[in-house]
Amino acid sequence: MIRRPLMLAATVATLVACATAPGVRSERADQVTTTSQPSPTPSPTTSPTTSSSPAGDELGDGIGDALFPDLGNPGLDVVHYDVELSYDPTTERVDGTVGLDVTLTSARDEITLDAVGLTASNVTVGGESVVAVADGPELRIPLPQPGSAGDSLRIEVSYGFENAQILSPIGFSIGWFNTPGGSYVLNEPDGARSWLPCNDHPSDKATYTFTIAVPAGLTAVANGTLTDHRTVGDQEVWTWQQDDPMATYLIQLLTGDYEVVDGTGPDGLPLISVVLRADKATMQQFIDVTPAMIDFFDGFFGPYPLDSYGIAMTDSFGGLAMETQGRSLFSRDDFLGGLGYTQQLLLSHELAHQWYGDAVSPARWVDIWLNESFATYAQWMWLEHAGFSLAGEEATFALENRPPGSSADPSAQDLFGYNSYDGGAVVLHALRLTIGDDKFFELLRRWATENSGGSRTTADFIDLTQTVAGAPMGDFFDTWLFAEQPPSEFPIGQ
Ligand code: ARG
Ligand code: ZN
Repeated sequence: MIRRPLMLAATVATLVACATAPGVRSERADQVTTTSQPSPTPSPTTSPTTSSSPAGDELGDGIGDALFPDLGNPGLDVVHYDVELSYDPTTERVDGTVGLDVTLTSARDEITLDAVGLTASNVTVGGESVVAVADGPELRIPLPQPGSAGDSLRIEVSYGFENAQILSPIGFSIGWFNTPGGSYVLNEPDGARSWLPCNDHPSDKATYTFTIAVPAGLTAVANGTLTDHRTVGDQEVWTWQQDDPMATYLIQLLTGDYEVVDGTGPDGLPLISVVLRADKATMQQFIDVTPAMIDFFDGFFGPYPLDSYGIAMTDSFGGLAMETQGRSLFSRDDFLGGLGYTQQLLLSHELAHQWYGDAVSPARWVDIWLNESFATYAQWMWLEHAGFSLAGEEATFALENRPPGSSADPSAQDLFGYNSYDGGAVVLHALRLTIGDDKFFELLRRWATENSGGSRTTADFIDLTQTVAGAPMGDFFDTWLFAEQPPSEFPIGQ
């Protein structure tokens, strides 16, 4: 057993925090152009016609997410997105259209989409042009006729942007980033709305078709499978299809000199990875280790929950690691020195998120520990399996180093803090010791399989825990999850 030095107690939280910390590399930190505050004077988006927000408007600006009150849109269920964008890396300009198939969940005469700093040039509802209004973090779209709950509508928004990022309440800039060789998006938690008018909340998952045009010679990549690739004039147009329900924060969109590397994982699972062409030889080893990791997690968490998996190695600054659905996103810079502890940690962490975060997503951002603590625990299990460290020792270290605060109640700024990761993985380790391995892994399996495709809360997890344990677990969660300070020692294991 290779013991890692204590100094290497770096977590994904730390690594990821570095990725977007202002000053690490001034990739676009100086170009945040928008604010997430509602503008007091709505501006029309269809020129020259003008319009103002309806007086006495009953719409809220969100769906009541305590940490991100702007996010989501009342009465709206997006079923499918058609994202059609054209990117010019020389001007860094993006233009395109998003088409949304939506179902109303309540009677409305107007709907909103989350859209920050985006200029919409034309908006249609059911093919009819309407005058939409850019109103701070919302794009207000009047319906040509009042709609009822259950109605299906097609909305299309033509828009464009350059350098779309917002300064998220988590403290970092997120959104669309241009790189020396192309571009990528990093959306979690509230950055998709900086480049895509959408229902930007993980409680509303949808399927997607991405049709992305780039200059000839470049590749465009998005979640799912490549269903079409053609040359149109001096552009190449790449179409990717995501059929598994997906939250907006999990969108992957890359452009650059990428090669798509196809392979096969356990049980015939399609593996679709992308690496920069010049990196192919260096990155192959990380593609090669992926099937063993999937196989290992399959055994504990149930069958891999999505249609495909892969890794994407982008040319961002180091420290970027994100569980973009079906194909995790990493920075090539973190993978230039071979397959060591950090690479095993990052690869296993983001893979585990495909079960915990992607297949079953948080219903509210305050439930983030359901993503990060689970992926951290899975990462500990893989690191033990790979001979780097023992999960029990990782847990003891984390318990000793955990700052005060409940893992179930982070602030927006602490969303990706210690207690969402290692601090919450402590809760899972205590749970494992309390109910025993058989019930613990039955619980993790059932959580992923029974909720796949949906969005769930901490209360839902507690309910399932009680079902699997066959006993009330209120005291356990009060002591380990909700308390500001958990016990100083783990329970004696079963
Ligand atoms: N979910 C990512 C991970 O732990 C962290 C993303 C943090 N968000 C950000 N904008 N840096 O794997
Ligand atoms: Zn994570």
